[in-house]
Amino acid sequence: MTGPYGDAVAAAPLKVARLRIWRGCAGEQGRYEEYDVNFEDGDSVLDGLVRIRFGQQPDLAFQFSCFNANVCKECAITVDGVVEYACIAKLKPGLTQLDPVPEQRVLRDLLTDTNEPDVRGATLRRRMQTIRSK
Ligand code: FES
Repeated sequence: MTGPYGDAVAAAPLKVARLRIWRGCAGEQGRYEEYDVNFEDGDSVLDGLVRIRFGQQPDLAFQFSCFNANVCKECAITVDGVVEYACIAKLKPGLTQLDPVPEQRVLRDLLTDTNEPDVRGATLRRRMQTIRSK
């Protein structure tokens, strides 16, 4: 690998995050499954979910539209017990637990029913007040 001036630059070793993800369908008890994903500093939890979907688990369900622009507000999930946008939450080494947004009807895995009234309304806004400031 070379730097901007053609000099040799050592590639930074990738870090590994283990994502413990709630899996299941509406009406099921559900279970947790764990996936390891490589990342670089600054990668989002959404980056990790996309890598898992395309590299390991093509049926993993979650939602997003704008992909890391934090515009669509569709990627809300629970990260280590706190409701956050997956495109804002950062991957970290070690274990991170991901759950659907609480009190929303789960369709499958981290995907909740966004057609239900109030999903983008008061309940979700109250929950998003708990977003960690980065
Ligand atoms: S992906 Fe659109 S807000 Fe997170």
